[in-house]
Amino acid sequence: MEWTREKRYLPYNKWDAETLLNLQAEAANSAYQMHYHLHPISGLVNDPNGFSYFNGEYHLFYQSYPFGAVHGLKSWVHFKSQDLVHWINLGLAVKPDSIADSHGTYSGSAREIDGKLFLMYTGNHRDENWIRTPYQIGAWMDKDGKVSDKTILFKNPDHITEHFRDPQILKQNDTYYAILGAQDKAEKHGHIDVWKSQDLKNWEELGFLNLSEHDLGYMIECPNIVRIGDKVVVIFCPQGLDKDVADYDDIYPNMYVIADDIDFENHKLINPGQLHNLDEGFDVYATQAFNAPDGAAYEVSWVGLPDTAYPTDNENWANCLSQVKKLSIRDGKLIQEPVETIKSLRRNAEKINSKVIKENTTGQYELKLNIGANQNGCLHLAANNDLSQSLQIKFDTKDGKLTLDRAQAGKQVAVDYGTTRSTSFTPHEDLKLNIFVDHSLVEIFVNDGEHVLTGRFFTNPVNQRIEFDQDIDYQGKFYNMETIL
Ligand code: FRU
Repeated sequence: MEWTREKRYLPYNKWDAETLLNLQAEAANSAYQMHYHLHPISGLVNDPNGFSYFNGEYHLFYQSYPFGAVHGLKSWVHFKSQDLVHWINLGLAVKPDSIADSHGTYSGSAREIDGKLFLMYTGNHRDENWIRTPYQIGAWMDKDGKVSDKTILFKNPDHITEHFRDPQILKQNDTYYAILGAQDKAEKHGHIDVWKSQDLKNWEELGFLNLSEHDLGYMIECPNIVRIGDKVVVIFCPQGLDKDVADYDDIYPNMYVIADDIDFENHKLINPGQLHNLDEGFDVYATQAFNAPDGAAYEVSWVGLPDTAYPTDNENWANCLSQVKKLSIRDGKLIQEPVETIKSLRRNAEKINSKVIKENTTGQYELKLNIGANQNGCLHLAANNDLSQSLQIKFDTKDGKLTLDRAQAGKQVAVDYGTTRSTSFTPHEDLKLNIFVDHSLVEIFVNDGEHVLTGRFFTNPVNQRIEFDQDIDYQGKFYNMETIL
């Protein structure tokens, strides 16, 4: 079947129930489907949206195209949770049902205001000549999950191209601010644009944020600001970033900058640091972070990349979200850790310390390892019996280096961007790894969240062995993880 433009943008009510039910069955029955991470009910999932705390619960939405593994007419699907781990699916929430969002309810954020959840997102509109206007839309969700009162707040000002989207709504003192990804018309460079409003109706542009002294490529998507302790962290996705500014391997990186503070009125970060990769693995993009009412900073990412084919495309579904991570700052570095409540998914704890860890797993587990200093070796996950096929985690605790290698991990993804990702840590010390596997997703936390490497992998699902390549001095625990969805 060919994905023509007409087909991608076909209104949802023109699709028949049987098609959708078949797509749901394909997504549900796939051996590569995740079971304790948010994933597509059908079709394609991309950015997390509207991550917030409202009415005593956490809320999270994702960008969804329900009718196939392509970027078509997008909507928001809604989930809520008490603990950031067990999510309840509340279904389709923000639909492309107005002129302003006729070609997709694109990414945005949410914030509890006066007993309702205020949603701020980009309405993707195209006219009959396929000319795009990015409308920034406000809408209100009540406690029953009903979205109403969609209003156009502003569109791209004259000096910004059609690439103007993904507003994050923020509040400081009594003023609302929004930050958006933007491309200027004059130079076609990427920026974060800062806006302000007192009443959420009248909005005024303040200007571009001084993120870096360098040019940051041709577009920035999905900007987010969180406060962590006395610092401000800006998380964003620059496209076309020069690798001399910050090194990265994926087609587009997800980066962050730590600053001492932000002066919204003058759209200025105070002492912004260098750009860093948020995740040192593969496939992390469009991370959304927010400060909960208790001040805690949480993030969740799309595990998938734009303009990238994945092996499940031919099963008509694609991608997933990461687990929610808690953010902190330790020794000036951003720390990303699993939330405490993820432990509630653990079943059957087992102590491990031998070369063969498991001959067979369900593909859904957590592995905690403490690997002694001054050794090197390779941990094979999702391996066949002779270890010739596996997802490899190579470590060297003498030099302080870890490499995630998916070259022998079955069906390949984005090989043009390399099949390995590496990180480094203090040499001659024990290495702590906390590894989460959910069928075709791996998340590796290094030394209590100093580094995170996330990636999808598509080994033959019957290969479920976990084994080191040699005898290694280590202590560890293995837990099966419960299914949540
Ligand atoms: C990032 C992104 C956003 C946009 C959304 C559309 O992945 O391109 O900039 O709002 O996806 O689905």
